[in-house]
Amino acid sequence: MEKFLIHGGHPLHGSICTSGAKNAALPAMAAALLTDQPVILNHVPHVRDIRTMARLLADIGAEVRAEGERYTICAGQIRNPEAPYELVKTMRASSLALGPLLARTGLARVSLPGGCAIGARPINLHIHGLEKLGARIRQEHGYVHAEAPGGLKGGVIPFERITVTGTEDLLMAAVLADGETLLENAAREPEVEDLAELLVKMGAHIEGAGTGTIRVRGVPRLGGAEHAIIPDRIEAGTFLVAGAMTGGELEVTGARPDHLHALLDKLREAGADLSIAASGAMRARGPTRWAPVDVATQEFPGFATDLQAQWMALCTQAHGVSVITERIFENRFMHALELVRMGADITIEGSRAVVQGKTALSGAGVLASDLRASASLVLAGLVASGETVIDRVYHIDRGYEKIEEKLSRVGARIRRVE
Ligand code: EPZ
Repeated sequence: MEKFLIHGGHPLHGSICTSGAKNAALPAMAAALLTDQPVILNHVPHVRDIRTMARLLADIGAEVRAEGERYTICAGQIRNPEAPYELVKTMRASSLALGPLLARTGLARVSLPGGCAIGARPINLHIHGLEKLGARIRQEHGYVHAEAPGGLKGGVIPFERITVTGTEDLLMAAVLADGETLLENAAREPEVEDLAELLVKMGAHIEGAGTGTIRVRGVPRLGGAEHAIIPDRIEAGTFLVAGAMTGGELEVTGARPDHLHALLDKLREAGADLSIAASGAMRARGPTRWAPVDVATQEFPGFATDLQAQWMALCTQAHGVSVITERIFENRFMHALELVRMGADITIEGSRAVVQGKTALSGAGVLASDLRASASLVLAGLVASGETVIDRVYHIDRGYEKIEEKLSRVGARIRRVE
């Protein structure tokens, strides 16, 4: 199993370019199932989850061609409307096939995702929404069997709680439904907006994407399109924190500052010196003395749960007590226990983590658990004295494209070993 070896204490300097957003590319790839025409996606990141989605689409019967960052997907024939357990258990975003398969063929068999390191993460809201569009759904042998033989009918879907892939799944189901669909309490993440942009290019009628209420007027069929995936705001945020935390100064290019206002505000509050160029390039330089800053994760545009672990790593270097409240997932503090092994002083109280800083971190052997927790261990390793060995780095490869190469180019002493 591959590991990262990190030798800490080296400030980062230079410029890092952001890759395309995994969490925008995944729904966009699934959207290709909605048409028999080719869908071309550019700026697709080379990460493990993208390869898993490509495999799923090929198993379903689509032709998938990858040339660098460009994916051409053509679902001319849907041979097998199924997302099998062996794929879904490695990537819960496979549930994004549910809506499009049902809309295109009137049939979908998708394995229930099962548990995940950060929480139960059911898909009950996806299922409930599809039933509102007329789907008949039963769960059997760990699979969701969904049927809509006469096609889906538009309806009103008031989401009980905000769900990103739930909104995306239902959006993709609604674009081919007969009549009008209203998604209320919809997710406002930039990745939802990006999916809607692609669907509109394919011929869908969608209003309000990026707000809490999305109105869709169904059409009989969709065509092909070409679309560039938005930059990865979580990768960009991770690198901004990394640069500032190591006492260096990193420029992060290719990302969208308007996707990161919550993080930028918190970095400023903690004492970082930030500058944003007209090009959107962001620079972050850390203060000599970080101030503690409380954070509560929220749906977009609030502070992203996917940046919570990285923020916790930063808080270990702040002088004072920072309280981090995780409001989205019920078990997203695994990184805390690993940070404590590196010398951090963190107490978990339910959905709150109380970080007492500043503590000197010392390199240790640590275990990556979920994608973003692993990123926080990389950040901690960059500032820890001595060597940190991070095991199970396949978690990181799911969502970060060659993170050790990008960081090495700006002065980090990090390498991948068997
Ligand atoms: C998306 O997951 C992202 N994944 C996650 O990123 C991200 O952490 C999450 O949104 C929150 O921003 C992708 O976009 C592929 P949710 P998703 O449905 O859609 C509960 C990463 O690091 N819920 O918004 O699965 C759920 O348990 C990943 O790239 C239900 O109860 O998250 C959670 O507590 C990790 N029933 C909350 O809602 C449902 O049917 C928000 O989940 C659906 C969700």
